[in-house]
Amino acid sequence: MKLLQVAAEIFPLVKTGGLADVMGALPQALAAEGHEVRLVLPGLPAIADAVRHQQTVCRLGPMFGAGRVDLLLGRMPFSDLPVYVIDAPFLYRRSGGPYQASDGIEWPDNAQRFGLLGWVAAHLAGGELDPEWVPELLQAHDWHAAMACAYLVANPAIDVATVFTVHNLAFQGLFAAADFHLLGLPGRLMHATGLEFHQQLSFMKAGLKFADHVTTVSPTYAREIATPDHGFGLHGVIQSRVSSVSGILNGVDGEVWNPATDPALHRRYSATELDGKADNKRMLQRQLELAERDDAMLIAVVSRLSSQKGLDLLLDALPAILGRGAQLVVQGTGDPGLEAAFRNVAAVHSGQVAVRIGYDEAWAHAMIGAADAVLVPSRFEPCGLTQLYGLRYGSLPIVRRVGGLADTVVDADDAALAADRATGFSFDHPTPGALDEAVWRAQQLYAQPQRWRQVMVRAMAKNFSWQEAALHYGELYQRVVAIRRGRGAAR
Ligand code: ADP
Ligand code: GLC
Repeated sequence: MKLLQVAAEIFPLVKTGGLADVMGALPQALAAEGHEVRLVLPGLPAIADAVRHQQTVCRLGPMFGAGRVDLLLGRMPFSDLPVYVIDAPFLYRRSGGPYQASDGIEWPDNAQRFGLLGWVAAHLAGGELDPEWVPELLQAHDWHAAMACAYLVANPAIDVATVFTVHNLAFQGLFAAADFHLLGLPGRLMHATGLEFHQQLSFMKAGLKFADHVTTVSPTYAREIATPDHGFGLHGVIQSRVSSVSGILNGVDGEVWNPATDPALHRRYSATELDGKADNKRMLQRQLELAERDDAMLIAVVSRLSSQKGLDLLLDALPAILGRGAQLVVQGTGDPGLEAAFRNVAAVHSGQVAVRIGYDEAWAHAMIGAADAVLVPSRFEPCGLTQLYGLRYGSLPIVRRVGGLADTVVDADDAALAADRATGFSFDHPTPGALDEAVWRAQQLYAQPQRWRQVMVRAMAKNFSWQEAALHYGELYQRVVAIRRGRGAAR
């Protein structure tokens, strides 16, 4: 099937979180299953400068506040997939992040920046921008790409099936209602049944209301977002479409995350050659000035520091955890309060806790490759990737049983241990006590090296593959296209 994938970030060029990892892997997995995949991305500097063999497909002139917009077609570095790059220097060629300036403040013209992304995607689907390649299905990822679905509703002559994928309902792309007139959409869409959300303009709602089908990145999260607790005020919208909402679990990119080949590791290892992992731990302890002890269970956290990730629970539980002799390494960036709190913990517990505030891909690999356990105590987690990387690297995940974490980690309770099913540790309540109890159980098992190793080897054999995810997406695309054709025929 001809598929157009629309997103704002992609590993390894632009990454603020797991969305980039997904975009770096899913399109390739879909192509490997025989789909004809193209991407459309905003011309952020790291994208515009890396895409190869760019040729102008069409010149769109001034629009969305930009003096000129050109559409280019090139090839992704690494994957070689065809990619449309929206060359709009005024909107995209800036230093800073894709959504925010370097000071953490949202770009004030994000409505235009991502309105344009949606507009281009929709009109590519309409065949007006590149008549030589017209997709059968458009998949938009997160609010940044969601407006494609609004432009399609505004242009009913365009016949393309649509899937909107929610990677995180917490980020909704909310703008002042007055921004609506910048987007060139018919006024009837700025209504509670459309894009209006509590007197604001919601990009997320364009995807949720207007896509033929909505997916999330795990089955449990698909159920959770239909509830007030996890719906961020949009649970009613999701409930109203419940038969068109489903979850497909993310996978692991085995080229990027593989302990047997990972260039960021001091020593590479596998389930049958685990010595390298113990060396990685010693090396990390040395580099980060932790006590060089094999018997101290080393816990790693690699995460955005935000309330989503539940790391305040870890801060509260930490005295008990450290009191039992565990070590902690943290790499993260985000909330200044959490950054300061973790820095402080490292200063008070030097030799036992090491904290790197910042974002560094190689260090993330080194930490996960050295740790005994990867901790992800999230309040909510649409899928979560670091627990999957932990499984793959034999660094047992300790997770809150929520969203994708619940779908991917089998808690080492007595029954699961007896049945040889356990792959990590989970807890239910978002409290320091519940987190501490799960870490305590991990430490108990860690003190029995042979049993720990059995769980490690089982975790490493788990295969959360993009191939499987691509098969599920492929089946879904067929269904969505068939339903659309059926509707067209009935008209
Ligand atoms: P989210 O997308 O909600 O942040 P995920 O677990 O899906 O969570 O994905 C996070 C991705 O970002 C992973 O690839 C993880 O390794 C990476 N990551 C998060 N924080 C950092 C950091 N400080 N340094 C390097 N990589 C990070
Ligand atoms: C989001 C979610 C995370 C998910 C990622 C990729 O950022 O917070 O749980 O793994 O998207 O789908």
